[in-house]
Amino acid sequence: MNMNNSNESLATLIRARLERPICLIGLMGTGKTRLGRLLAEAFSLPFFDSDEEIEKAAGMDISEIFERFGESYFRDGETRVLRRLLDGPLCVLATGGGAVMTPETGEAVWKKTISLWIKADLPVMLERTGRTDRRPLLKNGNPEEILRTLMEKRYPVYSKADIMIESHGGPVEVMLNKALRGLHGFLYKEAAP
Ligand code: S3P
Repeated sequence: MNMNNSNESLATLIRARLERPICLIGLMGTGKTRLGRLLAEAFSLPFFDSDEEIEKAAGMDISEIFERFGESYFRDGETRVLRRLLDGPLCVLATGGGAVMTPETGEAVWKKTISLWIKADLPVMLERTGRTDRRPLLKNGNPEEILRTLMEKRYPVYSKADIMIESHGGPVEVMLNKALRGLHGFLYKEAAP
């Protein structure tokens, strides 16, 4: 994607101070993977998506892992994949919505990364997750109720993130700009008057 000049200058300033991976967290359907790819491109860094890495390691997609082996098996794989990625080279990392709920992963994310929480409106998450059937957790009941329950349970944990940006479902460029401004504010806050 071609960035405008102000995003480009923000990206340069951020990259100059970036010493830890950027880790995107948030519920399903908030756009972590899409935004993560754009941020990685903006900083010329590698991008990883924990779900994709788990699928590669298991040779199966997430739904099949849940179906055949259950959620706790998936969480074990997720913990291992994130342990590896968080000890790897500087990158942008999108995590599955439940990843930071595992204490080991949560602690590593808060300590070793710059964490960015994408907090999206419920209708945005519903619309996005409704487009595919790749979210096993939303298959066993009413997706709206399930997401509401997850919001209650997970938001107190997500709120530990270094940066929070809101998504109201607009174009991804808007999210990119919000993320860049958030990262810049976080990395340069000591320079504020
Ligand atoms: C999950 C979110 C999914 C995936 C798995 C479980 C969760 O990732 O890891 O289906 O617990 O919220 P996305 O957040 O990328 O959809």
